Amino acid sequence: MTKVLIATEKPFHPDAIPGIKKIAGDAGFEVTLLEKYKEKTDLLDAVKDATALIVRSDKVTSDVIEAAEELKVVVRAGAGYDNVDLDAATKNNVAVMNTPGQNSNAVAELALGMMVFHARGHFNGKSGTELRNKTLGIHAFGHVGQFVAEIAKGFNMDVYAFDPFKDSKEIEKMGVKPVSSVGELYEKCQYISLHIPSNEKTKKSIGYDLLNKMPENATLVNTARKEVINEEELLKVMEERNDFHYLSDIAPDCADQIAENYEGRYFFTPKKMGAQTAEANINAGLAAAEQIVNYIKNNDTTFQVNK
Ligand code: 3PG
Repeated sequence: MTKVLIATEKPFHPDAIPGIKKIAGDAGFEVTLLEKYKEKTDLLDAVKDATALIVRSDKVTSDVIEAAEELKVVVRAGAGYDNVDLDAATKNNVAVMNTPGQNSNAVAELALGMMVFHARGHFNGKSGTELRNKTLGIHAFGHVGQFVAEIAKGFNMDVYAFDPFKDSKEIEKMGVKPVSSVGELYEKCQYISLHIPSNEKTKKSIGYDLLNKMPENATLVNTARKEVINEEELLKVMEERNDFHYLSDIAPDCADQIAENYEGRYFFTPKKMGAQTAEANINAGLAAAEQIVNYIKNNDTTFQVNK
């Protein structure tokens, strides 16, 4: 029997589960659910007889992969797969996939939502500022970056983007101004929305030199990963510039220091919330189930990231 385990420390919206079960059930697969687990041993136990695993930001480390003796495929229902040990998966002949684009609108809405919330003083009743006519720089123009651009144009923001992997014509087609260097993006834009993945090249790559290029009343919005920020250097900018603001989907490691010293200049979500919507969970969960069926039945490797 092919067993699909959904292991989500932060559960999918309940409406996502019946759809996943239907797709897997129609293929003759059995689905088990491990939600809100607190201990890693719960995951290690649950994964033992799983053929396929669906996770969100749950850490799929080498011990999880090794405990899962029947495992053929892991699907990270979402975009970033920095939570999966790709080397261990490859070594154990386990395919790893993500579901690109499926939860992007939710993340983009949160990015703009945090910007409005912060610009209006967290709705504290005092006078705030508007997004209209402000410059916004989108750092990486993938699925989420493109949704951010679309929404930001609705706010009448002046939108720029930097992405070394995208043709500038593609960026222009969406009514967004491409810039030729990352430095230029930070120099031009009062708001920067980060959408780079977290990997060996990008970890701690956003630091003092870039951030300090931003014009007066700068706001960095991070709905990507906290790991891409050089936090020591972020603190230096926050210390030197009382016009610098940091909004992040999930608190940085230096959250206490920021909260103690820079009141009114930050906002952090208590848990990673970007993809925490019914729609995103349904889209990503169903895509994960379909990808598992297609991989196991037809060896479809379209979304495999460790080929
Ligand atoms: C992603 O990489 O897709 C987002 O960060 C969503 O992560 P989550 O599923 O843990 O909310």
